Amino acid sequence: MSGFHHRIATEADIPAIRDLMARAIAVNQTAFLTPAQIALSHSVMGLDTQIIADGTYFLIERGETLVGCGGWSARATLYGGDASIVARDPAPLDPAKDAARVRAMYTDPTQVRQGIGRMILDLCEGAARAAGFSRTEMMATLSGEPLYRACGYLPIEYVQSPPVDGVSVPLIRMGKTL
Ligand SMILES: CC(C)(COP(=O)(O)OP(=O)(O)OC[C@H]1O[C@@H](n2cnc3c(N)ncnc32)[C@H](O)[C@@H]1OP(=O)(O)O)[C@@H](O)C(=O)NCCC(=O)NCCS
Repeated sequence: MSGFHHRIATEADIPAIRDLMARAIAVNQTAFLTPAQIALSHSVMGLDTQIIADGTYFLIERGETLVGCGGWSARATLYGGDASIVARDPAPLDPAKDAARVRAMYTDPTQVRQGIGRMILDLCEGAARAAGFSRTEMMATLSGEPLYRACGYLPIEYVQSPPVDGVSVPLIRMGKTL
């Protein structure tokens, strides 16, 4: 894709990533969730800094501007950020029998539908394959589902985030054989 380039995120990128994530959660999900579900999403989704420490989180930039981010992981956690209400599990996965995780995909709301999500997913799948995995899975939001379906992912399980004040966020565990 012309005009875009990618690199691996470092700790110095964390403030810009958190800012992009907050905007993507608030704006990109309005066609899919209620305002209460979007408000709760900020506590369900977000950045798991373990992925940045592992060196498996990609940034897409146009010039020096961050326009998208997302990563993969060889650890058991399927979704959730440092501050989120869902538990995380850093146990290592076995490429011979487990599916690598695709994690925390976000596109700047002013840059959607230009293939940034697809580009990040390609990078994640390539890196997971190079690490010996033959399958990838993620916990998809309703906003992520069309992208993942377009890229060959199929639903495995429909779930809800833990409820807070009677509100929960619908989620779909999805997977793909690479
Ligand atoms: C999900 C998200 C990252 C997609 O980013 P994106 O960069 O706009 O996706 P792409 O441009 O690569 O889309 C590729 C294809 O996916 C499908 N798609 C993506 N977004 C779609 C939408 N809102 N509605 C319908 N189809 C969509 C289309 O087939 C699209 O191809 P097309 O534009 O040629 O029709 C973005 O919407 C987002 O930030 N959502 C909020 C955060 C989130 O929920 N992340 C997922 C966590 S699991």
